[in-house]
Amino acid sequence: MAESRGQWSGKLGFILAATGSAIGLGNLWKFPYITHENNGGAFVLVYIGMVLLVGVPIMVAEILVGRRTQLSPVGAFSHLSQGKPGGKAWSSVGFLGVLAGFTILSYYSVVAGWTIHYTYLSFSGELSHLASDAHALQTYFGGEFLTNGQQQVMYHLMFMGLTTGAVYFGVQKGIERVAKILLPLLLLILLVLLVYSSTTSGFGEALRFLFVPDFSTLTTGSVLEALGHAFFTLSLGMGAMLTYGSYISKDVSIPRAAFQISLLDTLIALIACVIMFSIINSSDIEVSKSSTILFTTIPTVFAQLPASGFFNAIFYLLIGFAALTSTISLLEVVSSYAIDELSWSRPRASLTMGAVIASFGVLNALSLGGNATLSSINLVGRESTAGVFGTMDYLASNWFLPVGGFMIALFVGWVLGARDTLDELQKGHGDFSWFKLWRVLIKFVAPLAVGAIIVSVILGREYQ
Ligand code: PFF
Repeated sequence: MAESRGQWSGKLGFILAATGSAIGLGNLWKFPYITHENNGGAFVLVYIGMVLLVGVPIMVAEILVGRRTQLSPVGAFSHLSQGKPGGKAWSSVGFLGVLAGFTILSYYSVVAGWTIHYTYLSFSGELSHLASDAHALQTYFGGEFLTNGQQQVMYHLMFMGLTTGAVYFGVQKGIERVAKILLPLLLLILLVLLVYSSTTSGFGEALRFLFVPDFSTLTTGSVLEALGHAFFTLSLGMGAMLTYGSYISKDVSIPRAAFQISLLDTLIALIACVIMFSIINSSDIEVSKSSTILFTTIPTVFAQLPASGFFNAIFYLLIGFAALTSTISLLEVVSSYAIDELSWSRPRASLTMGAVIASFGVLNALSLGGNATLSSINLVGRESTAGVFGTMDYLASNWFLPVGGFMIALFVGWVLGARDTLDELQKGHGDFSWFKLWRVLIKFVAPLAVGAIIVSVILGREYQ
């Protein structure tokens, strides 16, 4: 069976693909703006704590379930739950993952599509005329672009096409190959931009903002937001890591891999912050809205710096590359369900699922102002949940991922036996001396922490 499902060529292939899944818009778009909103330093520290205490243990759990069963989420849970408390009902966790993959991809690829437009604008020199953040927000981002339904749909479909192409070619020839090319390129671009940002006058202030904590600015909301984001950025709670884990061989150490992936993901998020805040601080431009920094403030400041067209362009290429390796993993979760459970061939699964999600995503693309009815839908009535787009993001970030992560932690911590989990974790690793600590984290700390997110969402708070 392994042959028809596919397998990574080796450990490096898996690490690169999984890191590619983790690094995405979450790192380059969302983390910088929530760090900005939550006043830097202390929030960054809490976030790192959440990654270590909750993120890494759950990632270990997901990869473990995938490799143990060599199946994607639905099959994996239904296989491992046989004869256990709860029985087949656990396969609903897998279904929730497929639903989350579908939902997230349908709006994520809309934002990912913007990077194509912005790369084009950078190369054509159009962004060099931006005069202020408000000008960028009005002219390029809000006014002419977001509400232009045709453009939104076109870029979204282009991105879905690229994603589907990679998944179509399979684990090694598609997903792994794309990650092996794009991830090193992404690191290179990031390094060039980091060196560039270190020469700007705002570099020192950016480092202080990020790494000197002021705990008086920290709220319970920031702590839960840090945790919610750790989930999203590490691609946890919906079986993406589980699915990728089902393609690794028994000689890979799961704990080591999970740690390396999380470390790389965190490093990239921090470097992205250093770059962006240095650039912003080096000018006196006011940030008018945190969540649009990436598409308004950054190009505006670039416009005042030398060689702006080039740096702008590689910056948006970087974001596009990062987003693509993430969208691939989202589509792979949905496609692998059809391959494993419905016995579809990979071409059929990837093309069908890609087309269905792309079609549904059109509703998201049109709900940013392009179509009045789609833009007016709002489940929870907040500004950030407006439109089909806001609704999908709300459902995925607030419900699907936390509930999925909670159930995965419960399943691995309480339903799977300690002997089975230890046996799997020792394969490719040898003596796993952190096993007891990991068990405590997965049995108690992770469910309690993620449970707190769910309770606070029920009480009316939101995590975007
Ligand atoms: N981790 C990705 C990011 O930070 O952008 C988003 C993501 C990808 C979430 C894949 C979930 C997933 F399964």
